[in-house]
Amino acid sequence: MTEPASVARIVVLISGSGSNLQALLDAAVDPAYGAQVVAVGADRDGIAGLDRADAAGVPTFVERVRDHDTREDWDRALTAHVAKHQPDLVISAGFLKLVGPHFLAAFGDRYLNTHNTLLPAFPGIHGPRDALAYGVKLTGATLFFVDAGMDTGPIVAQVAVPVLDDDDVDALTERIKEAERRQLVEQVGRLVREGWTITGRKVTVP
Ligand code: GRF
Repeated sequence: MTEPASVARIVVLISGSGSNLQALLDAAVDPAYGAQVVAVGADRDGIAGLDRADAAGVPTFVERVRDHDTREDWDRALTAHVAKHQPDLVISAGFLKLVGPHFLAAFGDRYLNTHNTLLPAFPGIHGPRDALAYGVKLTGATLFFVDAGMDTGPIVAQVAVPVLDDDDVDALTERIKEAERRQLVEQVGRLVREGWTITGRKVTVP
């Protein structure tokens, strides 16, 4: 079992607007939440999420794949950068890169991702678009521990969101994101305060 820390250290990885990051930053203001965001990492510059971290006084770093000779070098550099902050939990919140074996060896039992569909349906970066095109009536968001696959790891929690008749991709994406942020804050708090066990595909919180 991964035991709870007194105040858990969280590193958040982002590639975009960072609204999930913001939800965590806001929750962590309350000491009773049980976690603080100690660093924010990104795979690109110039994104709103990095400004959110700056505004909250949280240190940031950027590791771009193209600044490294190989993807493996990038994976090592990202791993080293995250490790410096000694995280109890690493959260991919809209981070648009699959990490490699070095990262998973270091953080595989404590690396969470939030995805904007009900997995295993519609993995990948166009989840809401694919769900809408398929015509499902119910979709949602999934929080899971990352493994070596794409959106395939053990599931921590899921929240369902209805698809409305007049939805377009933007409207559906936004409705999912609201539920997704609530779920992320709630479940991360629960994990850091109570600890967790991963047995095969099953995640349990005592
Ligand atoms: C989230 O909906 C996540 O599921 C998807 O990208 C979105 C990130 O949004 N992969 P934000 O950057 O946290 O606003």
